Parts: sequence; structure tokens; C-alpha cells
Amino acid sequence: MSRSTPLGGLAGALGLEIPTVAAPMAGGPGTPELVVAAAAAGGIGFLAAGYKSAHQLAEQITQVRASTPRFGVNLFVPNPVPVDPAAYRDYLDLLRPWADRFGVELPERPLEDDDAWREKHQLLVDNPVPVVSLTFGLPERESIASLQRAGSRVLQTVTSAAEALRAEAVGVDGLIVQSSQAGGHSGSWTPRRHSDETTTVALVRRIRAVSSRPIWAAGGIVSASDVQQVLTAGAEAAIIGTALLRTPESGAHPVHQQALADAHGGETVMTRAFSGRPARGLRNAFTDEFSAAAPLGFPALHHLTSPLRRASAAAGDPAGLNLWAGTGWRAATTEPTGEVLRRLAAR
Ligand SMILES: Cc1cc2nc3c(=O)[nH]c(=O)nc-3n(C[C@H](O)[C@H](O)[C@H](O)COP(=O)(O)O)c2cc1C
Repeated sequence: MSRSTPLGGLAGALGLEIPTVAAPMAGGPGTPELVVAAAAAGGIGFLAAGYKSAHQLAEQITQVRASTPRFGVNLFVPNPVPVDPAAYRDYLDLLRPWADRFGVELPERPLEDDDAWREKHQLLVDNPVPVVSLTFGLPERESIASLQRAGSRVLQTVTSAAEALRAEAVGVDGLIVQSSQAGGHSGSWTPRRHSDETTTVALVRRIRAVSSRPIWAAGGIVSASDVQQVLTAGAEAAIIGTALLRTPESGAHPVHQQALADAHGGETVMTRAFSGRPARGLRNAFTDEFSAAAPLGFPALHHLTSPLRRASAAAGDPAGLNLWAGTGWRAATTEPTGEVLRRLAAR
């Protein structure tokens, strides 16, 4: 299944032999083992720094580096979506019956933070990795340049042509073009105005038409034909998230993995009910009850629902868990990560 010609472009410069990439997946699924398996298959994987301390991230970097030099790290860029305090209180009141049902306390006041951006950015400047990807917002030019001076390539997640042009203008090395087919959070810089429902192939074409930067495409890519379509549309690599959630290397909670296996008649929805930012996941009782009422507010809503989500998972109950999944979730298998990435890369 190996490709006869080495990859060109940024992917080739990073040493990729196959054009498939393991997505960063914060909250547990994106383990060091998954990242190592992606490199061993000839691709590359990203550690997800989101929600971790800089110290925890440093430990995972050390763990991956012991097995491979080829990997990336993904950072959440601070782009606060502060919650309206009254809307927070109203939402908290709506959630109380669920908190009682699971026997948990929810934070009475909004908790805001910047996901330790400065500490993690400094860690990567001092201890550079081959490639850094950024999501949720565009940092200042100097934040990107300092990573590049340290020796990293910098990829910016974009969800529209306008974001692509702004990222290009501050000198990023490449674009992660993420459509709303993608599982997990949208990288949109304007979650308040998030409405782009285009497919990944269409978005890659649209952005290819206005930008000459290397494109790695993300969203709903779960088959070799999906990969070939985004490559034909102008991407040089395909980012795979949901299709890896059930692999042995995935750290997704067993309740999440089981829900993906069980939900034959199910569907995914875009919801801010869990985190206050639009994200795609399997529809469940929580998204049905709260998607319409939930206010915007990241990370305050992430912290608000966190005890509930943990308790739901611990109880083996998928009803209150954020079951992140992209539109291609039915194709997620229990094959090893390397086999999935090689199968999807086959021409
Ligand atoms: C469980 C989960 C967690 C994710 N966490 C992150 C993250 O921390 N950073 C990020 O840039 N993207 C994250 N994403 C989005 C992926 O990087 C990628 O865009 C998406 O998985 C691609 O679409 P697919 O899931 O349909 O393959 C996450 C996706 C999932 C499914």
C-alpha cells in the first residue's frame, strides 16, 4: 500500500510518506500512542494541548519523542467568548435537574481562562516540535514568528476563505481547512456567527482559489475516496479525527466509543450545549434538551458542564456525555490507527 512517489510540499518536508494525518483530539482521545502510531504508519499525528497544563503537555512530548521525531502539537489560541452572567445563571438553573440526577455540583460562577496559552507557547519555543497547529483564533504575528524561528512549521486552522487570507497575511506556513463536517469543536474565529455548512471538498476548492499556501483538509474524511477527493480539490494531506476514535490507541472514553458503535440510527448535530462553542457530536438526550437554550461562552460552559459529563461517563451513560463525532462517524472502526491511516491513504 506504500505510495510510489515521495510526497511533495510541506507534507514531504515534514517527512510524510502517506498523505493522512491523525487529528489533534483534546479531552482524552488524542494519546501519545495514537501520535506515535500515525508516524510509524508514514503519516504524522498531533498531540492536543487543549485543557492540559504546560507540564502535562511537556510530559506527552517527551513520551512521543522517545519513539519518533515526527509529530506535531496543537494549541487553542485565546479568543475569548465571555459568557453573559445572566445567561450563565439561567443555563445553570436549566442544568440543575441533571446535576441532581448525577449527584454533582456545578460551578455557580463562570470560570474563564486562556488554556495556559503563554506557558504552552513558551514551552514550544524553548522545546520546538516539527509542526504546531493552531485553532480557535489567529495569534499575533510575533507568536507565529517565534515558533518559526525556533524551527517549527506553523499551520493555522481556518473555516472560511476570509480566515485563510488573514492567516496567510501573518505568515503561517500552511492552512488546516476545517469544514463543519468535522467532529469536535469548529475552529471558527467567530463562533457567534458560525453558520458555514459547506462540505470539506467545497471549502478546500474555495480556499485553494484564493490562497497558494499548503492545505491540509479536515472534516468527514473517512475513506480512501474521501482522501482522494480532497487531494484532487487541492489539499496535500487529509486530517483524520473521528475515524480514529475507536482505534486501540484512542483515549476516547469507552462510553463514547460504545456510542459510536451503537448509534446506527443516530445522527450528528452541531451544538454549543457542552462548551459554549459550536462543536459536532452524536445527538443524545443532552443535545436534544439543551442545544436551543445554551448560550455562547467558552470556556465557561466547558467548565460548567464538565462535572456532569464526567459523572455521565463514569455511570456508563452516554446521555450526558459530549460524544464528539464528524459526519462520517459510521465508518469509525476498531482497526489499529496505522492501518486506518494507511487504508485511507491507498490510491
Ligand atoms: C474528540 C475530538 C477532539 C478534537 N479536539 C481538537 C483539538 O483539540 N484541537 C483541534 O484543532 N481540533 C480538534 N478536533 C477537530 C479535529 O482536529 C479535526 O478537525 C476533525 O476531527 C476532523 O473531522 P472528522 O472528525 O470528521 O475526521 C477534535 C475532534 C474530535 C473528534
